[in-house]
Amino acid sequence: MKVSEDKNSCIANQGFAIDPDCRPGAGHDPDDQLRLNGPSAALGPNGGNEYIQIAAPSMGREEWLALGRPLADGWLTQGPRVKEFEAAFAARHQVARALGVSSCTTALHLALAALGLAPGDRVIVPSFTWVATANAVEYCGARPVFCDSGLDGYNIDPEGFRRTAARLAAEKTPAVAAIVVHLFGLTADMEPIMAVAREYGLKIIEDAACASGAGYRGRPAGGLADVGCFSFHPRKIITTGEGGMCTTDNEALAARMACLRSHGAGWSEERRHLADQPYLMSDFDELGYNYRLTDLQGALGLVQLARLDGFIAERRSWALWYQRELAGLVWLKTPSAPEGFEHSWQSFVTFVRPGLAPAGRDEIMARLHQGGVGCRAGTHAIHQLGYYRRKYGLKEADFPNAALLAAQTLALPLHNQMTPNDYQRVVDALKSL
Ligand SMILES: Cc1ncc(COP(=O)(O)O)c(C=O)c1O
Repeated sequence: MKVSEDKNSCIANQGFAIDPDCRPGAGHDPDDQLRLNGPSAALGPNGGNEYIQIAAPSMGREEWLALGRPLADGWLTQGPRVKEFEAAFAARHQVARALGVSSCTTALHLALAALGLAPGDRVIVPSFTWVATANAVEYCGARPVFCDSGLDGYNIDPEGFRRTAARLAAEKTPAVAAIVVHLFGLTADMEPIMAVAREYGLKIIEDAACASGAGYRGRPAGGLADVGCFSFHPRKIITTGEGGMCTTDNEALAARMACLRSHGAGWSEERRHLADQPYLMSDFDELGYNYRLTDLQGALGLVQLARLDGFIAERRSWALWYQRELAGLVWLKTPSAPEGFEHSWQSFVTFVRPGLAPAGRDEIMARLHQGGVGCRAGTHAIHQLGYYRRKYGLKEADFPNAALLAAQTLALPLHNQMTPNDYQRVVDALKSL
């Protein structure tokens, strides 16, 4: 299926009037789900459809139609659809305010900037997470102080977090904030973390890049601390191509983030355009950024958000199936959600037990890939990455769990484009190793 060609010819020939019958895949799929092979499908050793992607976006007719509306009315940058998406996202995540931004990385930077982070400030972050979590701290000239993760849920270990906060306070360089990551869709254990935050006066940012729709003790991610930051990158559960969201219950913080998101302007572009005197320009009191989400992304996000709970329910049932089917493989530990944690199953990240596995983790990944099964390391340990290692003189042994998880985790395909046969093939491939 040549999706991009179909899209282009639709738009060019119809002058922005999207013809629903001109959608990619029309007539091929009875449940109206576009089966996008994904841009990297051809990279699989078996080529084309046989390769099971590690992740793939789920796009349907509604998304296709939604994109046509901003194209037709010409409002393309942040505008009414972003506003609608923000309101729906805030309602789903039970927060007072949600602000669409261009990525989770910019969401994290915006949150830290709005909290008033100053150069040299210490911010505690886990080492075992995507590099963007720490990069956002560096953008502010502040200093990330790494913390180890637990081997079970892969998230920041609350006891280690307490020790790190206590050590920094004792050294008279107290942390002012922490970024707590809900890795792969499982929320961190927020109650003990918030107790440490209260004790040491830390602001807490939830890196909820992987956690749209996840929950903790009955409350959605994104409303568990001072600010939540989400990602809509295509590897996430819902996507807008690139994109992100900041969430908060703090109106003053939301207003500051809204201002910094759009160059530090006192008025939004939307308000200026809708005002009686649109020719007047706002004042710019702050050094801001252009971190806006477009209305094309807002339109897409609204449709994807409406499908979020269905996506999670399907993923959950296959995650449980994987747990059952893989239970006999003693060398492979499968992930699970403790009581009270609602996993959103953005990724299904297993742990290859050293010494018991038929081969090393990287060799297992090579064999799965050769057999047509996409797989990845869970993520990396930031303290081992060149920039951080050199800048802060860090060693592998400084955060042993993060180093072990970076070396031994194995993410298996789990997404809403997979068929029962795909899941069976993943399990068969693992059992035949
Ligand atoms: C934990 C975590 N934080 C932040 C990010 C950055 O998200 P984005 O790609 O939207 O900037 C990612 C992306 O994968 C992530 O996994």
